[in-house]
Formats: sequence, structure tokens, C-alpha cells
Amino acid sequence: MIIKDNTDMLPQVERSDFVNDFRWGCATSAYQIEGSTNVDGRGTTIWDKFCEQAGTIRDGSSGAIACDHYNRWPQDLDLARELGLNSYRFSIAWSRIFPDGRGMANNKGLDFYSRLVDGLLERGIEPWPTLYHWDLPQALQEQGGWKNRDTATAFADFAHTVSHHLGDRVQHWITHNEPWCTAFLGHYEGIHAPGEKNIGAALQVCHHVLLSHGMAISAIRSNVANAKVGIALSLHPLKSASNQQADIDATIRHDGLRNRWFLDPLYGHGYPQDILPLFGKNTPIVKTGDMAIIATATDFLGVNYYFPETIANASNEGSLSTKVVEAEHVERTDFGWEVSPEGMTDLLTRITKDYNPPEIYITENGSTYDDVVTKDGQIADQKRRSYLVRHLAELKVAMASGVPLKGYFAWSLLDNFEWAEGYTRRFGLIHVDYATQQRRLKLSGEWYRDFLCPLQFCGDNYEAERLLSLINGMDNSGLTLI
Ligand code: FCB
Repeated sequence: MIIKDNTDMLPQVERSDFVNDFRWGCATSAYQIEGSTNVDGRGTTIWDKFCEQAGTIRDGSSGAIACDHYNRWPQDLDLARELGLNSYRFSIAWSRIFPDGRGMANNKGLDFYSRLVDGLLERGIEPWPTLYHWDLPQALQEQGGWKNRDTATAFADFAHTVSHHLGDRVQHWITHNEPWCTAFLGHYEGIHAPGEKNIGAALQVCHHVLLSHGMAISAIRSNVANAKVGIALSLHPLKSASNQQADIDATIRHDGLRNRWFLDPLYGHGYPQDILPLFGKNTPIVKTGDMAIIATATDFLGVNYYFPETIANASNEGSLSTKVVEAEHVERTDFGWEVSPEGMTDLLTRITKDYNPPEIYITENGSTYDDVVTKDGQIADQKRRSYLVRHLAELKVAMASGVPLKGYFAWSLLDNFEWAEGYTRRFGLIHVDYATQQRRLKLSGEWYRDFLCPLQFCGDNYEAERLLSLINGMDNSGLTLI
């Protein structure tokens, strides 16, 4: 079958437009792909519990099996290598290491991630672990979860143990994934675990998560010589719904919680002074010294970019009196998220101007469309490919404007468990048939592979490189090559 595509309309972008050591990766997270939630001593997490409650997950599913990556990781890493990735972002499930969140480390959990890291290195792929991608051990939740300040200390201990075990092989570390989601989707909107709806709780959680980030940086640096540590934030460029002053002011307030609430304290400016008073009695408790810990210098900023938001004034909506409105006449993914590659440049140039991070990585970017598998097993996801190509082309624009961009991680390597949306949303460059666990490279994945390995020489190169290293090895061992 010949698949017609829209290649002609896509902007030109080639790998050679970027420096040689630009990081090209895909991202995943533990709960979304691993499955095997009851094996090798893994403890229960807030997501296991959340999924058990009726009405929380759109298709009533959970991550209990997911992509069975816990068992299939060698094949999945082979696929990552075949794509030509030089980096891979994954997350470490806290409850595999500390089933109850703290105490005695579980060696089987440590061994799993140790094998994964070795597997990556053997395939020439740099490991980029994230320490917290939302799967808090349930035992800690029962002591208040992130509302409890002690959870920050437990997280720093977890960071210490993991970096102690993997730090000889892992240089890049991401402390948290999207603290906004942990705090506000989990504790204000209630659509993510643990499902609370309380602004005061959300703000306190947010503070403890940021505090734990700063504490974890020191733990990692104490174990890993030359560590590069950062955080991955979900950030959004914002547009005002109209040019009326009320909407413009609302947009500034919305930015205050969506973006500045994280960037300002991380870069040493404290919580935004124009926003803090709006929370009244819900203002988080901040102890002396906390803001200095949160502002511990990082080596890079991870930006998870998906879509811009359009903001209007709404006098009855929450403490900020703002609401997100649907922009009209814009392109959207099947999830309804606006597609705006230029928005990414706006966001990145603004971050560079206002905060000047030494390095920026796009730690997530991707799209979901309802894929159709043809009878002969192909997935012609032109729209996802177009999204990918246009965002990669936009990276060049951002870099030309002075953004210190050093890498890009596509979300995601595989279709996976998309949180409250269950398995109804597919973000992968590789399709997963959940009934059989068969993986199939989508058209978007083929494009990424061809982009990363021009003329599809990657496989051959890999063999050639392996041969070369074998020869070098023999050479080193004293054998004379004729
Ligand atoms: C991000 C999450 C990631 C995935 C994508 C689609 O907010 O970090 O786990 O769900 O959205």
C-alpha cells in the first residue's frame, strides 16, 4: 500500500542543522509504561490507588500492565537504538526502590534500573533519569503525601540512594517532572492522583515539591562527580483572549501561577509578589532558608512544551479570577490541544530573556491523534509527523534567537497509559497493540529515524562502530592487527 503524505508542505529540517552533540531522545515515565506493579517488591503508589476508584480514569484502566516494559525493556531499547536516539529520558519508580517511600532500599528495584542503564549504554544511548514522575509511594501519601514536609526529606534520601547506585554511569538527572501537575492537577483540580480539590493543599504541595528539588540536587551532587542536574517544568506561552485591559491583566496573573510560580523561585526571585497576596489564608508555609534551597543553581532547565493557552478575566474563577478559553480557528490535536510550533519559540525566548538558564532541553513535546492501523499493519500518522517536523524546524528558529537549546526529547517512545485518559490517547512514535504487546513503528517514528540517521545508515553504522570498538579492544589487549 502506498501512503500519500504531506511531506511537500513541511519545513526543511536536517540533523546537520544542529551541533553534533545535540541530544536527540524520546521520553517515557515508569507508571505509564512499566506495568509489573506487584513484582520484585515494588510498593503501591498513589496512581495504583487512584486507578482503583470508579470514575477516575476515562476507560477504567490502570498502569498495572501498560506496555509491559518491565519485562520487555531490552526489545524497547533495541527499538530506541534503531530510531537512532543518542539519549533516552525515563523515570525511576520511587516505590520500586523504597516500597514504603523510605527505610531499607529494595535491591531488586535498584537492579532493574541498573540493568536498564547498562542496556542503554551498551546501545550507545545516554540515560536521562527523572526521579519523580508522579508515582508517590502510597505509604507516604498516608502520612500526608506532599502536604507533609517530611516527604521532601524522604525524596532527598531517595535521590541520594539512586544517585549513589547509578551515579557512576549517569551524568544527567532530572529531579521532578512538571510540579504544576503534581500540585494543581493532583490537589486542586483533583483529576490526577491523589485526587484532592483544595487550593491551600495544592500550594503547600507545590512548595514542598520545589523544596525537595533543591534538597535532591545536593544529594545527587554529593554522589556524582560532574553531575548535571535540572528539573522539567510544564510551561505555556500565554495569549490574552482580547486586547481589553481586564483580559491582559488576567493573562499576567495566569502567567504568575502557571509559569512564574516555578521559574521565579528556581532562579532566585522568590514567589511572584503580584500573585502571593491573592491566596490569602491559603498562602503556603515557607520556612527560613527554604527559598535559598529552592534556588540552588541547576545545570539546565527542562521544558515540557505542548501548547499555548488563551486567557480571559473571570471574576468568579478561583483566587486568580482567570480562565483558560478556547482560541478560535486554530489547529488542534485530537486531544484538543492547540498546535503552535511558534509558541514554543515565544516561550523559549522569553525564558532565556527573563531567567537566562545555562542550557535548555525540550524534555517533552508531542501530540496525540487517533491512530488507525491498516490491514497490512501500517500507521500513517501524518499529523503526528507534521507536528514533530514543524517543532523540530522551530528549534532552529529558537536557537537562532539565542536560546541555549541543547537537546530534544519527543514524547513518547511508545504509546502508553495517559493518566486520567487511560489508553484512549496515543502519543507514541511506536504503536503498541495492548492485546498482544506488539510494537509497530509509526510513520512519525520512521521520519524521526530517517532524520536522525540520514539514508537509514544507522543500523549499518552501529554494526561498523561495534566492530571498530572490538578491533580497538583487541588492539588494546596487545594483539597485533595485520
Ligand atoms: C505531560 C506528562 C507526560 C504525558 C504528556 C502527554 O504532561 O509529563 O507524562 O502525560 O503530558
